[in-house]
Amino acid sequence: MVSCVSGSRLDPWVDSYAQRARGMTASEIRALFSVASRPEVVSLAGGMPFVQALNMDMVAETAARLLKERGATALQYGSGQGDMSLREQILEVIGEVGVQAHPDDIVVTTGSQMALDLVTRVFCDPGDTVLVESPSYVGALGVFRSFECDIVHVAMDEEGLNPQALTDAITAARSAGKKIKMIYTIPSFHNPAGVTQGPQRRAEILRIAQSAGILVLEDDPYGLLGFEGEVPRALRADDAEGVIYLGSFSKTIASGLRVGWAVAPHGVREKLVLAAEAATLCPSNYAQLTVSEYLATQPWREQIKTFRELYRERRDALLESLQAMMPEGTTWTIPAGGFYSWVTLPAGLDATAMLPRALAELVAYVPGTGFYVNGAGRNNLRLSYCYPDPDRIREGVRRLAGVIEAELDLARTFGTTHTLATFHGESTPTPDMA
Ligand SMILES: Cc1ncc(COP(=O)(O)O)c(C=O)c1O
Repeated sequence: MVSCVSGSRLDPWVDSYAQRARGMTASEIRALFSVASRPEVVSLAGGMPFVQALNMDMVAETAARLLKERGATALQYGSGQGDMSLREQILEVIGEVGVQAHPDDIVVTTGSQMALDLVTRVFCDPGDTVLVESPSYVGALGVFRSFECDIVHVAMDEEGLNPQALTDAITAARSAGKKIKMIYTIPSFHNPAGVTQGPQRRAEILRIAQSAGILVLEDDPYGLLGFEGEVPRALRADDAEGVIYLGSFSKTIASGLRVGWAVAPHGVREKLVLAAEAATLCPSNYAQLTVSEYLATQPWREQIKTFRELYRERRDALLESLQAMMPEGTTWTIPAGGFYSWVTLPAGLDATAMLPRALAELVAYVPGTGFYVNGAGRNNLRLSYCYPDPDRIREGVRRLAGVIEAELDLARTFGTTHTLATFHGESTPTPDMA
């Protein structure tokens, strides 16, 4: 059945794919990322949490105790909605961001990535409009694209989603006869923009969504990882009917456990459970009960504090070295929490075209185009400070500054930097880019 031409395999099923599979393409950037995982490369690309900061002995004890005492349950199928005791514990976690809910409002998912998929599956027909920030999380864009949504980017400013731009986008989409199904937003410690909506801004966004009758999909994996001041209050805390809230243990415990959740209004919650059951029958009982046991027996708030301090130190190393080393004309956001800073290059430079040179100089970042569906972001890149230690971060920034200097020299000499292959940022999400 499989034919070969010039040594490359042709896909005999290409004409059989569903229409939606056409939106699922791997970017050329993805291939370059195999280089980024080499140890000599300082990767400021991936958003991998620094799980080494967990007390591994305690985690091992937790897992061992679970298997010994409740092994038959942990290794069995469970409920499609998620383990009841874990859902009760999740109430305590979301209480930290001001969300009051009932265990019945919660659906446990395989990471919040799966919750993004379920919500889109339940709400979006092909061609429906989803409003997203500009830039937005690459994994969410991949989901929306796979359901053939019409993705519309809405401008942000230093406080995140811009209310006037949101109002204008709603008016424009509706005048064009579009059905807007959701506003997707990451209000706290944005991936990739590194900005946070203040309380006033949150109230404005909610007011606009409510008066337009549009559902808000609030994605909040970083909410508890702020470096200063109070924990930002979730949008869901002030609108239980109009907001679906997504949370995750990926950044506060461990991403490898793949445990996240959605908090949704009652009717929506029922549909999400049916969609989840169709996809996976139930989330992993083993992973859920590991999290549940960990929350019940370990000082998880203390652990989150440890993560916060560690990431703050790394954020500081990044900001100080950017300040000291970046060529004039480069700017960046100052994150008050989370994992990312969004860099704008000097005018005329192209972060996508620059990536091969950066990798040759042994530093990696994610080009800005990956966070848009409309080709924007060529002048931007995302830096993650969550994984490398402060010395590696400083070394990475030193290398990156050299690469930008070299590109500027090239631009001065030839009037362009586009001597290198250019890449398009459209991609399905990759763990490297997440
Ligand atoms: C904004 C955002 N949403 C969702 C996710 C998915 O997280 P997980 O599926 O690990 O819970 C990520 C991961 O990086 C993210 O940055």
